Amino acid sequence: MNMPNMQEAKIRTKNPVKHIEQDLKLEEKFKGKKYFLRTYGCQMNVHDSEEIRRYLELLGFEGTEVLEEADIVVLNTCAIRENAHDKVFGFLGRCKHIKRDKPELIVAIGGCMSQEESVANEIKNKHPYVDIVFGTHNINELPKMILECNHKQNINVYSYEGNVYENIEYSRDSKITAWVNIMYGCDKFCTYCIVPYTRGKQRSRKIDKILEEVQTLKEEGYQEITLLGQNVNAYGKDLEDNVDFATLLEETAKIGIPRIRFVTSHPWDFTDEMIDLIAKYPNIMPYIHLPLQSGSNNILKLMGRRYTKEEYLELFHKIKEKIPNVAVTTDIIVGFPNESEQDFLDTLEVANECKYDGAFTFIYSPREGTPASKIKDSVSLKEKEERLQKLNVLVNEYSLENNKKYINRVENVLILGESEKDKNKVYGYTETMKLVNVKADNSVIGKIVPVLITDAKSFSLDGIIN
Ligand code: 5AD
Ligand code: SF4
Repeated sequence: MNMPNMQEAKIRTKNPVKHIEQDLKLEEKFKGKKYFLRTYGCQMNVHDSEEIRRYLELLGFEGTEVLEEADIVVLNTCAIRENAHDKVFGFLGRCKHIKRDKPELIVAIGGCMSQEESVANEIKNKHPYVDIVFGTHNINELPKMILECNHKQNINVYSYEGNVYENIEYSRDSKITAWVNIMYGCDKFCTYCIVPYTRGKQRSRKIDKILEEVQTLKEEGYQEITLLGQNVNAYGKDLEDNVDFATLLEETAKIGIPRIRFVTSHPWDFTDEMIDLIAKYPNIMPYIHLPLQSGSNNILKLMGRRYTKEEYLELFHKIKEKIPNVAVTTDIIVGFPNESEQDFLDTLEVANECKYDGAFTFIYSPREGTPASKIKDSVSLKEKEERLQKLNVLVNEYSLENNKKYINRVENVLILGESEKDKNKVYGYTETMKLVNVKADNSVIGKIVPVLITDAKSFSLDGIIN
């Protein structure tokens, strides 16, 4: 495992690609060639892929959904749980097969898995057909690595350089909603989590640069932006400027983009001022993803989460009281090493009290190099699976119960696109982040429309334009 070194954060304000574009005429080099880009993992990876895609397009590539057609395959990987590893290597197997008949195919792998030393070694020793390995800190070097590719494996990953890049260009997935990175990395070092190692320590972007980006997105007609970071509530704590997430949230709201969201929150850094701002500004959406991880004080302590069950609940209830109609979702890990039946019951108790709008639930997965992975575990996988199952039944019941409250209500829904299942429907999200399938034609795509909710399921609502 590469440990982050503690170099001072440097700010680069020039986009290196701009130089390449001018000097090397990127667009001509791969004109007519195709790229296949696959993204695993969290929103941060999804947004990083928008940067990767921009570089591929600057190089002249066009996208394809058909792997066999591709001249370059780029995998943007996730390391948060072990199963991601198997998926990626399974996929690489397909690339290897294609490359037998098409040796000019470029295979590139980046993202969080590439940052793991064991993975880099595995690729080096067992997967020589992989041409390029890049990391989370040097996505901007990908175009150069592609231009220089001679099919000799090039592993170019650094543990932590500490840069904050500005003026990055993205080829965004949507013209309606956009991600805005406000910070990189994480300083929390929860004992189960690999993120501080794969993405380095927390580096916040300067507030004026973030606001400039939001202003541009507003001018381009974006309806919604999501402020993105591993722990957005800690925004600014690493900067010398006297700014925090509340300042950023308020300044962003004043720009006047119709919808503002943010992920992910950490209860430890959530202040009353932030809650008051969410309640005050109608364009800050009443939706908060507030990871619990465990409802047991023993386990929370072992996880290094820095709050007790009681403190979490106090914050949760404050949010519910102060923000009208707020929806709260969460992340929960079951089967942390030596989690007892009582620990698990404590988690169920909190889930029963919070009645979450939704919950992402996971079985604990040991990640090499993290403190928790060194703990000897006495709980069997079967037991963990049974706990996950019980928890899922409970959280799904509450999702449905919450969703049913929407029936006969009129909700503002931002329509994002045509429904894949039914051509007579479009889909979008309520202010509280509920997915709604709406009977309507595609003229409403990109608009916020009032929708009468007619039916509710655990994971979505149905509605008609009101
Ligand atoms: N095992 C299982 N789940 C994990 N998460 C993070 N690390 C692990 C791990 N080692 C979960 C947490 C986090 C979400 C993004 O993934 O719940 O909030
Ligand atoms: Fe991982 Fe904890 Fe940081 Fe979230 S807050 S990214 S769980 S270390």
